[in-house]
Amino acid sequence: MKITVIGTGYVGITTATSLGEIGHQIMGVDIDELKIEQLNNGVLPIYEPGVEPVIQNLLKQGKLHFTTSLKEAMEGTEIIFIAVGTPQLSDGRPDLKYVEEVAREIGRHMTEYIVIVDKSTVPVGTAEYVQSIIKEQLKLRGLSVAFDVVSNPEFLQEGKALQNSRKPDRIVLGCSSQVAEDVMLKLYENIDALKHLTSPRNAEMIKYASNSFLATKITFINEMARLCDLLAVDVVEVAKGMGMDKRIGPYFLQAGIGYGGSCFPKDVSALAMMGREVNMEMTILKSIQEINQKQTDWFLERVKECMGALDGKRITLLGLSFKPDTDDIREAPSLKLIQKLLAEGAFITGFDPVASNKIKNIFPNIKIGEDAYSAVKDAEAVVICTEWKEIIDLDWRTIKSLMHGDFIFDGRNALDREMLQLEGFQYWGVGRNL
Ligand code: UGA
Repeated sequence: MKITVIGTGYVGITTATSLGEIGHQIMGVDIDELKIEQLNNGVLPIYEPGVEPVIQNLLKQGKLHFTTSLKEAMEGTEIIFIAVGTPQLSDGRPDLKYVEEVAREIGRHMTEYIVIVDKSTVPVGTAEYVQSIIKEQLKLRGLSVAFDVVSNPEFLQEGKALQNSRKPDRIVLGCSSQVAEDVMLKLYENIDALKHLTSPRNAEMIKYASNSFLATKITFINEMARLCDLLAVDVVEVAKGMGMDKRIGPYFLQAGIGYGGSCFPKDVSALAMMGREVNMEMTILKSIQEINQKQTDWFLERVKECMGALDGKRITLLGLSFKPDTDDIREAPSLKLIQKLLAEGAFITGFDPVASNKIKNIFPNIKIGEDAYSAVKDAEAVVICTEWKEIIDLDWRTIKSLMHGDFIFDGRNALDREMLQLEGFQYWGVGRNL
């Protein structure tokens, strides 16, 4: 099938790649000329393991092409994906201006039946809104062309885009007509996954409910971790025991220094706003936001309890991205932590396998290690903010010998506590300090 994907951010690029991989002919569109040039040369503007070679392959096979012209891309296209950004407004709602612009542009060029798919995370009712914008443009042109707007939310995790797209748990399709449903089922016929067929409004809500539920699960275990700390209980053991119950499941029960990223914080806020707009305060979401906000403060208090005043102390943070396998630092807990540690007067050195430079741009006053070993030199404490495999697999005996002190604060409960204690570290994990 001939597909157009508008927007070459994280969602757009991964959508284009995964649809190209299953045999479709893809046109990627963006207004950013430099990005389009880079992509046509096989250079990926985002960090996502494994995606670049797939793009290069698809370009070589002529299955993928990028352009700045939506009009050109739309010629003969059967489906258009809208995968543009929906940045957060100051009141917590997503800004739909890019979605609106794209919808207008589609309406200006459409001449035959096309299925338009909302891939961006957008509030309930957006498919209907997009439909009305396109209709308005067609009316201005004096045309009445049939088309459908489908909601097909994205559930990929950054850092795992390829594996998630090759084998998704489910594909949610919110269609308003049988024709659109048939087109979407044909599109995904080569992907072996559960397909949930529903209405566009339901599909839009499924995306927000899923992300908010996962954020709730993490927040629950984070608050449990605080209680475990007070009652001499190990939250890792508790999560393991809970996760064996199929109804609970083992995933997203890893206590830590809070969730971050470009999705959970934004989507929880947007869902809370959706509630407020219909006079319903979602108290659970309010609590999640508060607990997540306070998680780094709580963590810092524990660091202070162990180390005393932090003024003048040398502390090294390892892993700075919001999670492993990405250079994304949006809403990364490391940002809050660095800010707070600097305010306490600590000297900070940081290291991340790929995000170090981004952090240095925000905090020019902190030191950045060329590698983890140089970053820990003379440190009195090491803090793990992100559980990169490269960091877990470090030679901790060498780390200990390079440090001046012996504190290790494992903000992700990712390290081997017993091994570190044997190496002479004073280990502190989130909710596992017996
Ligand atoms: C999340 C969802 O998992 C995806 O399904 C969704 O498609 C995506 O948002 C999106 O809306 O685009 P992502 O933000 O890439 O994906 O990352 P996650 O792996 O979900 O992690 C989010 C945050 O939760 C990270 O800061 C991570 O460290 C934290 N986390 C995750 C925990 O603290 N504990 C856990 O057990 C799991």
